[in-house]
Amino acid sequence: MSKTEKQRAGRNRTLTLSQEEIPELKKQILTLDQFRALADSTNSSNAKFIDDKTSDSTIPTSSFLDKTLNCDLLEALKLLPDEFADLIIIDPPYNLTKDFNGTKFNARSNESYDEYLSTWLPDVCKKLKPSGSLYICGDWKCTSSLQRAVEKELTILNRITWQREKGRGAKSNWKNGMEDIWFAVKNPDDYYFNVEAVKIKRRVIAPYKVNGVPKDWDKTADGNFRLTYPSNFWDDISIPFWSMPENTDHPTQKPEKLYAKLILASSRPGDIIFDPFLGSGTASVTAKKLGRHFFGVELNEEYSLLAQKRLNKAETDKSIQGYSDGVFWERNSISKQ
Ligand SMILES: C[S@@+](CC[C@H](N)C(=O)[O-])C[C@H]1O[C@@H](n2cnc3c(N)ncnc32)[C@H](O)[C@@H]1O
Repeated sequence: MSKTEKQRAGRNRTLTLSQEEIPELKKQILTLDQFRALADSTNSSNAKFIDDKTSDSTIPTSSFLDKTLNCDLLEALKLLPDEFADLIIIDPPYNLTKDFNGTKFNARSNESYDEYLSTWLPDVCKKLKPSGSLYICGDWKCTSSLQRAVEKELTILNRITWQREKGRGAKSNWKNGMEDIWFAVKNPDDYYFNVEAVKIKRRVIAPYKVNGVPKDWDKTADGNFRLTYPSNFWDDISIPFWSMPENTDHPTQKPEKLYAKLILASSRPGDIIFDPFLGSGTASVTAKKLGRHFFGVELNEEYSLLAQKRLNKAETDKSIQGYSDGVFWERNSISKQ
């Protein structure tokens, strides 16, 4: 039985593809051939395709804006113009053995993982505008490789630790309950950061008052709440699970709430967000919901189509679980939202 046909419980909201919708979704994504044709028609004398990694393609950004490109990132990088993205969010294969719908990424030595990163990360960084920002996700095992690779290209400004709830228990090791997200910029003297857009709404434990007036908190019918500045430790975000409308069968799907924080803090409305390993589409979908432009590359066709399905849904449904009325709510507060 395929993943699309799998039996699921009644309240399971996991998004899947039906055979009927696949032909229409295929028309909406870009293939490598179509992308090459676009580059060709734009400027066949300037666009270099084969075995040349220095991109001087003149393919206009407008021709791939708000699209999903289904192909190998290495091919896409040869065609994409430099400095088109305001924000790049990368969730690469970690140094683990993982099956991405039939294409296996195999765990390897740290040295060969470093080597793998060097085949695409420097070129991805070239796609960032001079005032742009980049986030890259990893786990404890690959994080040092990521740090080494990123600091060769950009200035690292922080490392966010995301406490993720789910994780497989281990009898002879600590269960993994966290991931890192490195935050880096091209120019530490010129980048955008909007902390006001990413404040967290937390319940006040000790409601401190000055002259009888609440100090930095609000009294509401549902209790007392304070808007707090976010730190680099994030414990308010769960990974997508079966009862959430954003959930798919992608094995390493990131939550929209997590990406919403990155996008709101590090981009303006109308900016371009680029995800070179799009997976089920979380970066593009969240960018669209928040009024940003987007572009994503994904190797697997089924994931590309799932991303497109989510993008179509986002035409009418702009909701992001855990983010409402312009604020991020702490975990387990849905009834209060
Ligand atoms: C960690 S997952 C990204 C998950 C994504 N953040 C989400 O929320 O669904 C990495 C993705 O990269 C894709 N991938 C791996 N190698 C690739 C390549 N060379 N070019 C494009 N995509 C690739 C895999 O198919 C997988 O979907």
